[in-house]
Amino acid sequence: MKNAPHAANSPATTAEERPWWRDTIVYQIYPRSFRDSDGDGIGDLNGIADRLDYLHDLGIETLWLNPIFASPNADNGYDISDYRRIMEDFGTMEDFERLLREAHARGMRILLDLVLNHTSDEHPWFAEARTSRENPYYDYYLWWPEEQGRPPYRKSHFDEEADAWCYNPPTRSYYLHYFARQQPDLNWDNPRVRQELYDIMRFWLDKGVDGFRLDSIPYISKDRTFPEIDTEKFPDIFPYYSLGPHLHEYLREMNREVLSRRDCLTMGEGSKVSPEEGRKFIAPERHELDLLYHFGAADIRNETDGLPGGTEAGILYDLPQIKRMYADWDRAAGSGWPTVYLGNHDQPRMVSRFGDDSSRWRGLSAKMLAMFLLTMRGTPCWFAGDELGMANIRFTRIDEYDDIDTRNRYRKIEREGGDTERFLREQQEIGRDNARTPYQWDGSAHAGFSTARPWLRVNPDYTEVNAARESADPDSVLSFFRRAVALRKEHPELVRASFRLLAPDHPQIFAYLREGEAARYLVLLNFSCRPARIAPEAALDGAETLLHNYPTAPPLDGSTVELRPFEGVLCRIAAPAPSAGRTEARE
Ligand code: GLC
Repeated sequence: MKNAPHAANSPATTAEERPWWRDTIVYQIYPRSFRDSDGDGIGDLNGIADRLDYLHDLGIETLWLNPIFASPNADNGYDISDYRRIMEDFGTMEDFERLLREAHARGMRILLDLVLNHTSDEHPWFAEARTSRENPYYDYYLWWPEEQGRPPYRKSHFDEEADAWCYNPPTRSYYLHYFARQQPDLNWDNPRVRQELYDIMRFWLDKGVDGFRLDSIPYISKDRTFPEIDTEKFPDIFPYYSLGPHLHEYLREMNREVLSRRDCLTMGEGSKVSPEEGRKFIAPERHELDLLYHFGAADIRNETDGLPGGTEAGILYDLPQIKRMYADWDRAAGSGWPTVYLGNHDQPRMVSRFGDDSSRWRGLSAKMLAMFLLTMRGTPCWFAGDELGMANIRFTRIDEYDDIDTRNRYRKIEREGGDTERFLREQQEIGRDNARTPYQWDGSAHAGFSTARPWLRVNPDYTEVNAARESADPDSVLSFFRRAVALRKEHPELVRASFRLLAPDHPQIFAYLREGEAARYLVLLNFSCRPARIAPEAALDGAETLLHNYPTAPPLDGSTVELRPFEGVLCRIAAPAPSAGRTEARE
């Protein structure tokens, strides 16, 4: 339990033991794309503040803002040059304080996205560090001295050469950057670095922020001998990147020094972390983080490797694999608490990837996916725009992209004489900018996002898919989302109940039971564009349908249920007598 008094302005937590963040929905805002208040084509903090009522009205209580700190924007804010200043594009510190005040006044909370694995190469620490080996800041970063020869290969995610080492002439050494060259990795083994970072966390907590999403956190501790990668032993290079020797020790230290003293939520980004490893981050008795934002769904490979295609079941990916993955994470969470998401600023739009964004199925599949995220066990991370059914933009030319990842990978393929056309087709399905197009507010110019030409093109479907239109339509994806969010609040037991996967091998339907003390809930979701049938293994007599996405609910009076394409249904069924061996809700 967090034991210190609230930071000033922080909304009150619930009186009961259960922490507030187990019941909330984390609504993720990419500030650059949400709403531009000053007509420069870039979203900003005042734009978010202006739309707090809209969000509050949707039932949203917790916001996660992608990085808002000073940054030269090589990677849109994930390269921080001053952790205590607001990025000029987004406004001023006063704007942030106002946003926080306004959010708290509505009982809403704000999480900031802190990048602690690396800084910008324009951060003053790095500007100093790169001048000489004697500079006190040199040891803030990770270096390989020239006299030891070429450093052992490490892959960089965004580097044009995919090489994570960059030569720095003044120090005659290479610095490490797991991401772009403009994002040098910090040396967490240096206690001064850790203290600097904890101070930064305290600075924002003192302002009253309600917690952090911790970027790339599994990467912070490295084996600084940098052994040669044994690709035979580890075909996937991640064992050399993630989960380094002191990771958990540092997280416990961070918890001891900062987090345990405040009432805040910390959600780590858990790229390439297995469920078993993931448990270590969130087990309450280990005193590290509260939640881990795992990549299970993002890591599921498409049958067609990103390119449109089709399978027998009409699904591009292996649904049973996804089901097993979520069941594994649920089990592994133990006394901790899972998270669930299907899209974010690094992934394509969820309706394009896991549903079908053609005009025929977009609405139905977006609603079905919403039903999934909002009825699973775990804190849902909801990416802004998915409640409208926003879809991939599918740029056709490289110059339409802004993302450093897409642009640099394109350059590499071009230089090596590879198939750039294929790459562009693939990016149409999986490129990060698909999720970063401006939020579609209404049918006016630039979708009401800005009065100026936006930094990234608006999806031309905005005349159909936008908040104003959908707010007025009771059958829209937005109205469905609002109902589903309200339903979670009306049924706290649904949110807290245990999870049991049904029919794990069914190729089209994701079916599960949520079993609480007084009620059980059955969720049946057809993830495909073909009809499907299931015998749900639960007595449906007297089942009360709570939510469905077709105008009429499917009949639940037989032993099997027929679901139409992308149909989803949530119903409440009688709790079995205690003797039936009911699984208790895990708390
Ligand atoms: C995380 C962020 C991503 C960023 C990267 C480097 O994965 O989600 O957007 O590019 O870290 O900071």
